[in-house]
Order: sequence, then C-alpha cells, then structure tokens
Amino acid sequence: MWKDLDISLEKAVSMKDMPAEENLGFGRYFTDHMFLMEWNRDRGWNNAKISPYTSFSMDPASTVLHYGQAIFEGLKAYRGKDDQIFLFRPEDNFKRMNKAAVRMSMPRFPVDQMLKALKGLVYLDRRWVPSAQGASLYVRPTMIGVDPFLGLKPADNYLFYIIMSPVGAYYAEGFSPTRISVCTDYVRAVKGGVGDVKTAGNYAASMLASEQAVERGCTQVLWLDACERRYVEEVGTSNIFFFINDKLITPPLSGSILGGITRDSVIKLAQSWDIEVEERPVAIAEVLEASQSGTLQESFATGTAAVISPVGELLYQDVSYQINKGETGPLAVRLYEELQAIQYGRKKDPFGWRVTVG
Ligand code: COI
Repeated sequence: MWKDLDISLEKAVSMKDMPAEENLGFGRYFTDHMFLMEWNRDRGWNNAKISPYTSFSMDPASTVLHYGQAIFEGLKAYRGKDDQIFLFRPEDNFKRMNKAAVRMSMPRFPVDQMLKALKGLVYLDRRWVPSAQGASLYVRPTMIGVDPFLGLKPADNYLFYIIMSPVGAYYAEGFSPTRISVCTDYVRAVKGGVGDVKTAGNYAASMLASEQAVERGCTQVLWLDACERRYVEEVGTSNIFFFINDKLITPPLSGSILGGITRDSVIKLAQSWDIEVEERPVAIAEVLEASQSGTLQESFATGTAAVISPVGELLYQDVSYQINKGETGPLAVRLYEELQAIQYGRKKDPFGWRVTVG
C-alpha cells in the first residue's frame, strides 16, 4: 500500500548545550535534530528527512492556523542499563495518530516506516536521553494541514514532523498527590465529537477550565460527561482510575475520552496481578460517596507525560473530599514502579511493550 520512504539525513553542524538534568521541567528544551516529511494529494508522502532542529515558515492562510487541522502524539524514550535506549509502545502511538488522521480528514502514514524514522532520530540524538531516574526523552510527532487557502475543506498539503524534548516530571508535585477540581461549568468532549482523538483543539478548549482550577489551588480539572455532568471522563490531559473496594475502576472508551496507552498498560498490569478491573461508567456521586464512606482506597491519573499521578483530594462544588488521607497509595506506587522498571529495561517485558533503539 505504501511506497518505501527514502529518508535523507542532514546532520547539525554544531550541537546545542544540554540543560542540567535536575532542571528539565517539561517540554522546554529541544534536541539537535527533527524529522520532517510532506504530503500532497498527487504525490502522497514525500521529501522525508532528518535535519537540524529549526523553525519553519508557513503561509498565514495555512489550514492549521484557521481551522485547526492538527493532530499529535506523545511518547517517550528511556535510558536503561549500559546506555541502552528504549521506546515504550511506539507503534500504538502511531496507530492512534492514524485513527486521529481519519477523524480529522488528514492522510494516514505507514506505521512501520515512521517507527524506522523515529528509531533513527532517537539514535542520532541519543545523547539527549536523560539518565536521571524518572527523566526521559519526550517525543512529539505532529501533523498539520498547510494549504494557503481559506475555504473550509481538508487541506491538500500536510507537514508531518517529530520533535523531541528531554523532560522531568510533568506536574510540579512529581509523584506526590495532586488536588483536583471537578469541573461543572465546562465540558471537554461529547460522544461523536473529537474527544477520543489527539487533536490540538481539545487542548485549547481545556485551558480556561484548567486555569480556573489553578486559581482554586488545584493542579488540574476532572471532567464530567457533556450530557448529564454526572459521569467522570478524564482528568486534565490524562485518564483517571479509582480503586474502590479492591476493584480498579476506570471510565470506558465510549467515544469521548482518549484511549490512553498508559491507561491500557495499567489495566493489563493490574489484571496480571489478579486485581479486578472494571471499565464502566463511574458517576461522580459514587466516587464522592466512596470517599466519605472510606471505600475509595486510591485514585490516580495516567498519561505519557504524567505517567501515574496520584490524586489526594477532589474539590467538588467547593467541598473537599480526601482520598487515602491525601497520600499516595500503595497501588499507585506499585504500578508506577512496575511501569518504570519495564520502560527503563530494569525488568522483563512480558507484554512486549519495549522497543530497543539502535
Ligand atoms: C501526553 O501525556 O503525552 C500529552 O499529550 C499531554 C500533553 C498535554 C503534555
């Protein structure tokens, strides 16, 4: 179906200074190189190259700038023992991106060849993969429509690129419990919309609610469903889990939430430990009642950027509900440690999630 992509390589003449690993933060620094390729309706994917990281110019009328034809992914590369570099489930990210491409009327791309390109890029910039515990190289594949045309229709020209950034913890709290505000004023997505794909507009639309949550002293928002504002959906940019009565419960992938790869990994790990997992609608009332009755043992968010982020407190209509006395629970710790041990190559990978680079 796809012609083999010819990927040209232009190496950077001078290399950037690397930031200190203790001060990476999230998404502030970028590596020496990037991957780029173009698509147009006549030629398909073409002009694939790895080149020095640089800004690019774009026509002010470009589709992405007006109608938001933009999709992206987030995955990570990890430095393991003997400086081996691993990617975590990269094919799943590329498959999810292709699903988003279909939903946003954008072209799909060959997953196997993107994996080859990504491995080449990560290998070339391997000095940027941090070695500090918990730090990693965040990889951001992105696709945008670039037609210089203001009529509303899918673009005929696209740019696909991959940039990479060495990162530490996403939230300032690190692996400490977060305080989350349940959002009742706005919704993130509606079934049949685009909430189940990683398109830029979802993130723009979430910013006001997130800002208001921060004003209330919270880290993020917990979104409720768009129709009844009754069922839990996602937390910020991550999936959400509740551990109630020894059952791990998470909302189902029913069209308005993103199918997180960390979410799927957590479900599979928990099941492999004989923990009962339920993917089902979770009413916010059930969560709050469980918090009050003491049956809500833990809650945590999962995502590539945030990994596992424990929730210590929920704020709902100005009432605070503590979870596990505001402390990180043992299941969150176990999942975090196991996931990281697999990601950094310290443990066997029974699920075949790890991909070795170079
Ligand atoms: C990720 O977890 O990779 C994301 O895309 C979230 C982003 C807002 C950092």
